[in-house]
Amino acid sequence: MIKLENVTKTYNKTVRAVDDISFEVKGGEIVGFIGPNGSGKTTTMKMITGIIKADVGKITVNGFNVRKEPLKAKESIGYIADSPDMFLRLKGTEFLDLIGDIYHVPTDKRQQRITSLAERFELSEALSSPMMSYSHGMRQKIMVVAALMHDPSVWILDEPMVGLDPKSAFELKQMMREHAKAGNTVFFSTHVLEVAEKLCDKVIIIKKGHLLFDGKLEELEAQNQTGSLEEIFLELTEK
Ligand SMILES: Nc1ncnc2c1ncn2[C@@H]1O[C@H](COP(=O)(O)OP(=O)(O)O)[C@@H](O)[C@H]1O
Ligand SMILES: [Mg+2]
Repeated sequence: MIKLENVTKTYNKTVRAVDDISFEVKGGEIVGFIGPNGSGKTTTMKMITGIIKADVGKITVNGFNVRKEPLKAKESIGYIADSPDMFLRLKGTEFLDLIGDIYHVPTDKRQQRITSLAERFELSEALSSPMMSYSHGMRQKIMVVAALMHDPSVWILDEPMVGLDPKSAFELKQMMREHAKAGNTVFFSTHVLEVAEKLCDKVIIIKKGHLLFDGKLEELEAQNQTGSLEEIFLELTEK
């Protein structure tokens, strides 16, 4: 469960990236976070993970306040950042060991998780090479393996499909469905509407830091009988 109450973030005292937003993502739901570039999606997700602090407002993850109990909140989070270009000097195996250490994943469970996730993403052979040699898609995939290794209940995925080949994108979408179906929380951002349309129980639409819509896609379509979801989206998010 993710809950934001009146959350605001201003960069450099001038850019109000997120302006007084509130929403909730419940367990068992896949919620798409949609908005044009620069609308505040990444900023919001980073605040949920605790990477950056909200100026105002309250954020809880599985009931833990991310400011007051950051470690407890972080234990239940699996986060995929918008750029996978971290730790590139490490080999895949070294990077995954580092993450396993940070999250106290026991050795046997670590091996089992890495083996099954790497197989699912056809990454097993690449693990012994430095990540510098990986393609963007492979980097993205190893970040997915790392983020899910400790089996977190709350998934926060910032543009997770970008750069994935079709098979891996299919696997990841399938995993998102399975995870939500098991009662867990999946919150992901995308600017690709088709992905949201096929995958989401609910969407939250943001523009220039303001929440424009929070609800089911059918509700959005029923409210706006003007055309396809794409047209509604364009209309909503136009300047
Ligand atoms: N570190 C930063 N310093 C200053 N401004 C930033 C920073 N990160 C993002 N912004 C600004 O905040 C706004 C929201 O950005 P972001 O959250 O990255 O949006 P999105 O992920 O929806 O594309 C944009 O105007 C962006 O330029
Ligand atoms: Mg972003």
